[in-house]
Parts: sequence; C-alpha cells; structure tokens
Amino acid sequence: ALITSKEIFAKALTKDYAVGAFNVNNMEIIQGIVDAAKAENAPLILQVSAGARKYARPAYLLKLVEAAIEDSGLDIVLHLDHGEDFEICKKCVDDGFSSVMIDGSKHDFEENIALTKQVVEYAHSKGAVVEAELGKLAGVEDDIKVDVRSATFTDPEEAAEFVQRTGVDSLAIAIGTSHGAYKFKGEPYLDFERLKKIHELIPNTPLVLHGASTVLPEFVAKCNEYGGNIPGAQGVPEEMITTAAKYGICKVNIDTDLRLAMTAEVRKFLVEAPEEFDPRKYLAPARDAIQRMVQHKIKNVLNASGQ
Ligand code: G3H
Ligand code: 13P
Ligand code: ZN
Repeated sequence: ALITSKEIFAKALTKDYAVGAFNVNNMEIIQGIVDAAKAENAPLILQVSAGARKYARPAYLLKLVEAAIEDSGLDIVLHLDHGEDFEICKKCVDDGFSSVMIDGSKHDFEENIALTKQVVEYAHSKGAVVEAELGKLAGVEDDIKVDVRSATFTDPEEAAEFVQRTGVDSLAIAIGTSHGAYKFKGEPYLDFERLKKIHELIPNTPLVLHGASTVLPEFVAKCNEYGGNIPGAQGVPEEMITTAAKYGICKVNIDTDLRLAMTAEVRKFLVEAPEEFDPRKYLAPARDAIQRMVQHKIKNVLNASGQ
C-alpha cells in the first residue's frame, strides 16, 4: 500500500539502520529499485524531484508508482524531493503523495519556519507528512574552510527551535554532504559531532541526509572506460553513511549512484554490442544494474535488510 514514513521512521529511530530514499524518473528506475527492496524485504521511499515531474510528467510517475505498489505488494512511501514552494507541495499532496519536502533552506530562519508551517498545516490536514531542511548543503565549488562550514551547517539549537515551532515530521540537515558526483575536493569530512548534538536535542525527530551517494569508484571507472568523462568524482565513504544512521539519520537520499549505475551499464552495452538498437536490450541490463546498486545500499550501507 501507499504509506507515510511515520511508522518506518519511528522504528528506524530506535535502531541503527536507515531507510533508503531513491530518486525516480522512469519505469526502469522504479522497477529496479522496487525489485531490490522486495528482494531485501526493506522499507522503501520513492522520491520525485520537480525535475523528475517535468521529465516524466506528473501523471506518468504517479501511475508508475501505483503500478509498482500493486505489482510488488510492498508498502511504499511516495515523497516529493526538494519542493521549493507551498504550491508544488500542495499539488503533490492533492495528487496523492504521502510525503512532501518543503525545502526552505535558501530562506532566512523565520521565513523558512513560516513556509514550513504553512506546508505542515496543509499536508497534515490531508494525512501527508512533511520533511523540511535547515542549513545549506555545500555546493560543488563552495569553499570548504571551517568558518564556511559553521556558517552553512545546521545549528543544533536552531534545529530544535525549528522543529518545535513548525511541527515538521522530519528534518534534513547539513553536515558536509552535497548533491552530485563531486562532493569533496580533498579528504571527505562530515561533522558527526554536530549530528550527535542535533540528535541529542531532538531525539524524537527523524533526521534526513541529502547528498548521500557514495559515488562508487567502480562505476565511475566503468563510465570512463566506455567513453564517459567524469574525472575526479568523489562521494561520501560508505562507512560514514552507516555511522550517520546510528545518530538519528533515518532517511538517506540517493540519486547520483543510480545515475552512475544505469549509465555505466548502458555505455558498456552500446560499446560492446554496436549492432544492437532495440532499447530494451540496453534498458534491461540498466534496470538490473539499478537493482544491484539498491540491494547493495540496503544491505551493506543502510543495514535495512529485513526491516
Ligand atoms: O536533489 C537532487 C536530486 O538528485 C534530484 O535531481 O533535480 O536533477 O531531478 P534533479
Ligand atoms: P546524491 O546526489 O548524493 O545522490 O543526493 C541525492 C539527494 O539528496 C536527493 O534529494
Ligand atoms: Zn537532496
């Protein structure tokens, strides 16, 4: 059935695993992820960005996720990723999403609170849950000096006040991750002391880690070997994700790793079988690559198998 994240987060909060939230854009990606969650008997969040809605068109994604639920028999959360204003959150709640993110992180503290409150009020009245964000994820080209970190990372006291005043169901925090395939220029660094402090102050609030792809070197290498050009890609080390799950991180957002897995497989196939031109020939192995990637995440990084 379509479920909210309430129960699965409540359970994840008391244990050391985290729920994977995977970005979906088309049928093969959805099928690969859902097959993986089913094989691992794991809780699952499928998330849709504004870009995904635009690409696949809202009705297609909705129907594909409905089909996935029907076909798999799984309980699945359908979540809006990075909703930027009240309107898109309302639209998704009205469409039947069980969860939405209002990303007010670009606004100042009071504006973020006001916007989040507005979304929480509406979503809760319709039975949906809300994720908000406080603090700014590092940009690829952002300076990584310590003073810059403390200016953009989530302030623990503010996080406590934010949750209390908004009544939000879960909170995305900034502790050093960033979106995309280029997360660190030098040594990977996450501010676990900050995470622990936040978790201590709001122990009942499920925390969310965005930008949590690990950018496995094997997949970057495979893309590059077959004609790609993505030099210097670097993700969050796997053990850091596992550690974060112990300190209140209940939801781990993964998109880039799916893109890399799918693209590496398509590149390899097309190079090795230049005579093939039936899209199913390369999309089927791409779907399998997504499934393997997601099973690996669930089992070895998130520790969510059987949960
Ligand atoms: O947070 C970003 C996700 O990876 C979604 O990316 O906006 O390109 O769909 P997108
Ligand atoms: P990655 O780019 O690390 O996969 O992060 C995805 C994300 O945070 C989606 O909201
Ligand atoms: Zn994100």
